[in-house]
Formats: sequence, structure tokens, C-alpha cells
Amino acid sequence: MKQNVIALVLAAGKGTRMKSEKSKLVHKIYGKELVKRVVETAKKSGVDEVITVVGYKKEQVQLVLGDSVKYAYQEEMLGTGHAVLQAEKYLKDKNGKVVVLCGDVPILRPETVRNLIDKSIENKEYATVLTAIYSNPTGYGRIIRDIGGNIKGIVEEKDATEAQKEIKEINAGIYCFDIQELLQALKKIEPNNAQKEYYLPDVVRIMNEKGLKTGAVIVEDNTEILGVNDKMQLELLTKVLKLRINQYHMKNGVTIEDIDNTYIYDDVEIGTDTVIHPNTTIKGDVIIGKDCELGPNAYIREGCKLADKVKVGSFVELKKAIVGEGAKIPHLSYMGDCEIGAKTNVGCGTITCNYDGFNKSKTIIGDNCFIGSNVNLVAPVTLGKNSFIAAGSTITNNVPADSLAIARERQINKDGWNKK
Ligand code: UD1
Ligand code: MG
Repeated sequence: MKQNVIALVLAAGKGTRMKSEKSKLVHKIYGKELVKRVVETAKKSGVDEVITVVGYKKEQVQLVLGDSVKYAYQEEMLGTGHAVLQAEKYLKDKNGKVVVLCGDVPILRPETVRNLIDKSIENKEYATVLTAIYSNPTGYGRIIRDIGGNIKGIVEEKDATEAQKEIKEINAGIYCFDIQELLQALKKIEPNNAQKEYYLPDVVRIMNEKGLKTGAVIVEDNTEILGVNDKMQLELLTKVLKLRINQYHMKNGVTIEDIDNTYIYDDVEIGTDTVIHPNTTIKGDVIIGKDCELGPNAYIREGCKLADKVKVGSFVELKKAIVGEGAKIPHLSYMGDCEIGAKTNVGCGTITCNYDGFNKSKTIIGDNCFIGSNVNLVAPVTLGKNSFIAAGSTITNNVPADSLAIARERQINKDGWNKK
């Protein structure tokens, strides 16, 4: 029979400490909702399908995930074990593995999930728990091992003895289970604990009592399993993700002057030798070439494509801008929905007027153009190659190649006027 690998994302919890009208799970880190990050991680780890358990404010979670997952519903929050059992109808006819993820643990790496699944299969374990070693384990479930080092069970902080509280190995809340044995064990869980909840971690003890092999994988990077419970943690995780992404680009040969003040979202490609000055933000779905210079204080938004040797300077915002090799937009510009040709210079204060209140229109600028300072380009409009636009112009008509366009009032000087 086919061996499935299914991911189950727990996303029914309330998240009271966020003090928000929104579900905790739809809060965003770097433009992407927590729960969406977890589902994407699951998919990247190579699972066959993703099931999400929703409950509190489920409409919000479903709006974000749409039909990218299947849904199970938990009406009452009776604990993590109870939450998993709500997905029984999707699991009961399947063999293989189910990996349980938490919707509020959003920066876990797909490789870590894959490794957990692989180790579980290799070691023929019925439950494999992702654990971490924390110097301050307060609040987490503790991993109980026998003298041989085999994992025997998990004890929650609120149920732990003083001796157990000294244990530094904690349960990350992420597991890989054998599907059929999990379902059987879940039915044996009882809420006879301090919180009167059905604890998912109890299945580890139940499987052990049945003589089934269980194990653990210790996570290498402890930051991966950080959860979000309040807005301080949301900020902390944003910082961790920011550093992770910035380091990734630095390893690929990008120069980042200030790792703490550079904000690069997911899905950005940057060529080698590009230099990024402080306070630059690059949103997702952007490709930047080699040897570019960006910032300080540049804002490069979705859909931009910059060729090599492009300069984007201070207080420049780009959106859906396709910029040719060697082009320069050095200061104080908004360039949206546009193409800018190779070696074109966009003067200080130039903006594309791309929005008329109803529609977005395109501005096309050829190669080798020179656009003077403070020019408005009212889209749709095309500037032919080698054209020259006088400073202060508001351009509403197309400009032919090789020509000069001036679109402003002539200056009048009134001699002696100010003496009167
Ligand atoms: C859980 C583990 C603990 C572990 C910790 C890691 C249990 C009993 N304990 O504790 O060992 O160290 O995670 O972070 O599992 N959820 C539901 N329905 C429920 C209850 C929870 O969907 O009825 C979801 C929550 O939204 C959350 C996840 O399950 O995404 C974990 O629940 P949470 O209450 O945060 O468990 P912890 O007490 O942190
Ligand atoms: Mg928690």
C-alpha cells in the first residue's frame, strides 16, 4: 500500500496574548501570514498533502490559505491531542507518516521537517519528536529519557516534578508519527492533568507502553522553533528571519553594509557584488542583477527587475519597474509600472503618474534617455531612446527618439518689481 506523508498544521488556538481582533495565525512576518509560512514550509519539505486544523476565527485563516489545504474543524479547544483527532477522517484510510506542525511556529526550515521525516522512516520509529536544548526551558514540555537515552514520554511544565523541571531538553511541539498508530494512541489519551486537556505529547508514552519504538531529533538552530504568542515575539521572529535572509544573500556575494537595517523579504534574487546601503527594503518577487548599488533609504517593491549595474539611490520607490543595465535613479523618485532603458538617467524628483484613480498605466522609457529634475511622466506615455526631458516638465504626450521635450511655462522676469 502507498506510504503517504501528510502534514497536519494546528491552527485552531486563540492567541489571546496578541490582544488583537485578528487571529494570531494571520498576523504577518515580512508580508506573509504565520500560518501561510508554516503551510509553505510543509509543502517545500515534500509532503503529499497538507491538512489544517482550524477553529477560533477560522474564516480568517481560511481566507489566507484558500484551497491550498484541506480543513479539519475543532469546535472546542480541548488540547493538542484533541485537535489532531479532528483530522481523523482524512487519516483513517491511510498508511505512512503524518508530521504535525504548529501554525504559530513560522520560521521552521523545510530541511528540518524533511530531516525529521527521513529520520523517522530510517529509524523505523512510530513517533519522532523534534526537540531542542534550552538553557531556560521554562514553559515547555520536558523530554523524559531512560538511562539508555531512549525517549519515554513528555511532561508538561505544569505537571512536572521539581526534578523534571531541571531537564533542559524540550519538546518543540513538532512530531512525525506513524498514521495508524497515532490514531490508536490518540484514543487512549485522557485529560487527567493540570490543564484538564487532551495532550498530544501523551501519545509518546502510550506508544512506549505498547512497545513501539519512539525517538527524537534535536534541532540544530534553536531559533527555528520559536513560537509567536504576543507582539514582542512577533518582532523577535521578524528579526531572526531578517538576519537569516540577509546572511543568505551575503553568502551569495551581496554586500550588505548594515545587516540590522536591511529588510529583504522572501523570494528575492540578488546578483553578486551588489551593494546595499542601510535602510533599504526589498519586497518579495524582485530580481536584482550584479554590481548594483541600492540605497540608503530605497524601497524596491514587488515585480521589479533590475539588470546589472543599476543604481537606485536615496528615497527612491520602485514598483513593477523593469530597469535596464547601467540605468540610474539616484534620488527622490517614484517609478511605478514602468520600463527604464539601459544607461538612462532619471533626474532627482522624477515621478511616474501611473494611477488616475481607476487604472494603472505604463511608462516606457527608452535607452540612453536623460530625464531632468522634477519631471512628471503622466502614463500611459513613451519616451523614445536618446530623448532628453527638460527639468520641471509634465510630460503627457509621447516623446520621439533623439528629441528634446520641454513642457513647462516659460519664465518671465519683471525688472524692478520688488522695489515697488
Ligand atoms: C505544546 C506542547 C509542549 C511543547 C510546546 C512547544 C502540548 C500539550 N504541549 O505546549 O510540550 O513544549 O507546545 O511550543 O501539546 N492548538 C489547537 N487546539 C487546541 C490546543 C492547541 O489547535 O485545543 C494549537 C495551538 O493553536 C498551537 C498548538 O496547537 O498552534 C500548540 O498549542 P499550545 O497551546 O501553544 O501548546 P503549548 O502549551 O505551548
Ligand atoms: Mg504554545
